Amino acid sequence: MSYLSYVSPSATSPWHTYLEQVDRVLPYLGHLAHWGETLKRPKRALIVDVPIEMDDGSVAHFEGYRVQHNLSRGPGKGGVRYHPDVTLEEVMALSAWMTVKCAAVNLPYGGAKGGIRVDPKKLSKKELERMTRRYTSEIGIIIGPQRDIPAPDVNTNAQIMAWMMDTYSMNTGTSATGVVTGKPLHLGGSLGRVKATGRGVFVTGREAARRLGMKLDGARVAVQGFGNVGSAAAELFVGAGATVVAIQDHTGTLVNPKGFDMHTAMQVLKRDGGIGQYPEAERIDNESFWDVDCDILIPAALEGQITVERANRIKAKLVLEGANGPTLPEADDALRERGVLVVPDVICNAGGVTVSYFEWVQDFSSFFWSEDEINVRLDKIMVDALRAIWDTADRHKITLRTATFAVACERILSAREERGLYP
Ligand SMILES: NC(=O)c1ccc[n+]([C@@H]2O[C@H](COP(=O)([O-])OP(=O)(O)OC[C@H]3O[C@@H](n4cnc5c(N)ncnc54)[C@H](O)[C@@H]3O)[C@@H](O)[C@H]2O)c1
Repeated sequence: MSYLSYVSPSATSPWHTYLEQVDRVLPYLGHLAHWGETLKRPKRALIVDVPIEMDDGSVAHFEGYRVQHNLSRGPGKGGVRYHPDVTLEEVMALSAWMTVKCAAVNLPYGGAKGGIRVDPKKLSKKELERMTRRYTSEIGIIIGPQRDIPAPDVNTNAQIMAWMMDTYSMNTGTSATGVVTGKPLHLGGSLGRVKATGRGVFVTGREAARRLGMKLDGARVAVQGFGNVGSAAAELFVGAGATVVAIQDHTGTLVNPKGFDMHTAMQVLKRDGGIGQYPEAERIDNESFWDVDCDILIPAALEGQITVERANRIKAKLVLEGANGPTLPEADDALRERGVLVVPDVICNAGGVTVSYFEWVQDFSSFFWSEDEINVRLDKIMVDALRAIWDTADRHKITLRTATFAVACERILSAREERGLYP
């Protein structure tokens, strides 16, 4: 009997998407391509049982993961996701995209990711805290300020990072502020971190629009996912004169060609945890989101959203991947053929990890920067990185995604080669 390896991808999984993206970049890596297999195997994957006592006295078990995809360039870095669909394969893909992303913006990190297979909305606050603390203890054998530094992702936030920091600190007898990023400000968090990913989406979008000759003033924007990333990006685009004409989240799909008022939208989000009850917009069925007339589309929810069929219906000229892995490889081809420019996740949403890096550096030096300093540095890193990627894309006549992989993988595999193979 033959067994499937855990690195064999199931069809259309995020890991499958990632492996195809690697295959597309290998021809552009010269002699470094002989290290290509390194990119296709996580260095380390930890699966943990997370048992907790529920409020009613019963015991529930949750599946937790922490994957360190590649540590050639530095300690692991990557978020923790709480979602009922989390799988090992998904976490492997997300950790691999972190490796590429950190190298694309030249941060001294490898790539990692974690997750728990749970619907956190069904847990009380106390249950959520117990689950977070037990998970942190279980993965405590591989994380640490110099080893692997978690951060927020889907359904995790500053409060969860505070519990993680406290648990790790209690277990090690230290005040280890550098063990996670995205913490509250009182615990060594950084100004600008909450909105950093959305800001990075805006900055890369602004640069891409400039190259396309598209004015942001008056541009129509559609956003899928109105959480940390989508809402912050939408606010910044509106601040630059754009109009948000459609928003989709887990509570529904709303359109208003005259534009959403961001202040009201944020109030509704704060009140209900979703955008569904926003007052002045028409509710349409979820699938019709992909037909909305717009100039810029921002997928900022989950993976695998843009299929070939949807790609062929998208009206936007510019797609900004706030989410990780929202576009399937064949859909990428369809968008390219239709002349739609895609700014890929591995550069578009790198603003979050960049300010996480600032947070980590500030924690070590115990010297904190102003929000302006942070935003200016973030803007510069994103613009410089995108320029180098664009030059590579023009030189080889390849998509921005393959160009981002080319720039990043050259850095990752050069580090691999220079360190040499142990022993
Ligand atoms: N938070 C970060 O700093 C960060 C950094 C880089 C990339 N990302 C990526 O951005 C994406 C969003 O992350 P986030 O931190 O904003 O998460 P979040 O939990 O704050 O928000 C997720 C959003 O997606 C929506 N959503 C969930 N399921 C949906 C569905 N089936 N259809 C439509 N909308 C749905 C939710 O309603 C919510 O608005 C993820 O892919 C994440 O990996 C996040």
